[in-house]
Amino acid sequence: MKRLLATFALSLALTVSATPGLAEGNAATGKDIYNAVCWECHSVEKSGRDKIGPNLFGLFGATAGQRAVSFESRHSAELKNSGIVWSEETLDKWLASPEKFVPFTIMPFVGFPEKTARDDVIAYLKSVTQ
Ligand code: HEC
Repeated sequence: MKRLLATFALSLALTVSATPGLAEGNAATGKDIYNAVCWECHSVEKSGRDKIGPNLFGLFGATAGQRAVSFESRHSAELKNSGIVWSEETLDKWLASPEKFVPFTIMPFVGFPEKTARDDVIAYLKSVTQ
């Protein structure tokens, strides 16, 4: 029991000390968040179908609203003309508040206030969309 507690305390200490300033998110946690929040509207696999939102394969380095050809006519003009190139930085702003980053976007999602949730989802997206 003592040993278990020590292990727990150690892993807690590692988690706490590793969190601030950590650029890399946790892809496994990101997958859980993605499945709970984004999955209904997006697929991530190559040639995955568009749902309420576009398939996300090939996202990194692509210009917003230009990549998912079959979804093109459904994108908002605001996103299509934004000139945003998707990267960790731009995705972080998008996932914090799509509406603030691209006013009048049609993505109906309020955003994650928590940076760790954004980092985790971005890490997951990086692991499956390229
Ligand atoms: C209720 C449906 C819905 C949910 C939930 C949703 N999205 Fe979207 N998403 C959309 C729609 C619709 C668009 C197109 C927005 C536009 O054209 O203005 C979009 C666009 C995007 C884009 C831009 C794609 C491109 O090619 O430029 C990304 C990236 C994205 N979503 C990621 C996510 C992630 C990650 C989540 C989960 C945190 C999420 N979305 C949750 C519907 C949704």
